[in-house]
Amino acid sequence: MNIKEYLRAKKEMVDRALDLYLPGDDVEPKIVHEAMRYSVFAGGKRIRPILVIASAEAVGGNAETVLPAACALEMIHTYSLIHDDLPAMDNDDYRRGKPTNHKVFGEAIAILAGDALLTHAFEVITMCSEKVDGERIVRVIKELSEAAGSRGMVGGQVVDILSEGRNITPEELLFIHTHKTGCLFRAAVRIGAILAGASADKLNALTAYAEHLGLAFQIIDDVLDVTGDAEKLGKMTGSDIKKQKATYPALYGLKRSKELAEKEIESAAESLKDLSTAADPLREIALYLGKRES
Ligand code: IPE
Ligand code: IPE
Ligand code: MG
Ligand code: MG
Ligand code: MG
Repeated sequence: MNIKEYLRAKKEMVDRALDLYLPGDDVEPKIVHEAMRYSVFAGGKRIRPILVIASAEAVGGNAETVLPAACALEMIHTYSLIHDDLPAMDNDDYRRGKPTNHKVFGEAIAILAGDALLTHAFEVITMCSEKVDGERIVRVIKELSEAAGSRGMVGGQVVDILSEGRNITPEELLFIHTHKTGCLFRAAVRIGAILAGASADKLNALTAYAEHLGLAFQIIDDVLDVTGDAEKLGKMTGSDIKKQKATYPALYGLKRSKELAEKEIESAAESLKDLSTAADPLREIALYLGKRES
């Protein structure tokens, strides 16, 4: 299969749906809807929504059915980026190749646009009810709220912020990465599978895949902050060192970090060994993300 073509087609599908599901920028108060749309459509690889779709397809589901959930994941991810870039957090000026949300709309509107994206995601996910029964949707809402909240992504962000400028243990670093990034990867894959009615065995395999992939993804994000190209990444490099962030390169060095990421990519692919060729896109996504430069 051609993974680049697969990602392009799914991204296009997700982008169209996001446009449909987000309030128009002519809806009052216009400024907040403009700000929400600004960051969502600034760019972005759409990895999490594509994982929702690919995971559903891996267990016999189809993309159309899970599209609202896929968009919900991207809305929550984009909210997390808007808040992550705020002066009170990472204080970054560029994101997705453009000035960050607060640089354009000011901090107050950026905070509110993030809040609104988070909230709107839960409205959008209920739109899966056209094709999926209510019981599965309740399960999925529980997955998403846990993954996004203080026991998930927010929890990881809290420890990330508290660890700035401190020496931390490998266990603390693993907690940060598996939570701030891993939890949304895990939720994306599990939600696609649950909506498609995956068996318990398949759901477990997919969960392991997502956990390895999410960790690899954040280790590579850390590596690219040192070695990457700002133009390609659409964000400034060197910002972790400047803020004395808890990262894999800071704790393990670049070479070892790259090896650890590679090991997680291999484990991700290995987790899918009992799944059919329907899981090939997931396998290819892991290999592709292992080599990413953006
Ligand atoms: C950036 O995520 C933040 C991390 C969790 C590392 P992505 O690299 O997926 O960012 P976009 O969505 O493509 O902009
Ligand atoms: C981002 O981690 C994690 C979340 C936004 C939840 P980073 O702070 O490393 O992400 P970038 O490098 O700014 O994209
Ligand atoms: Mg951060
Ligand atoms: Mg950041
Ligand atoms: Mg980073």
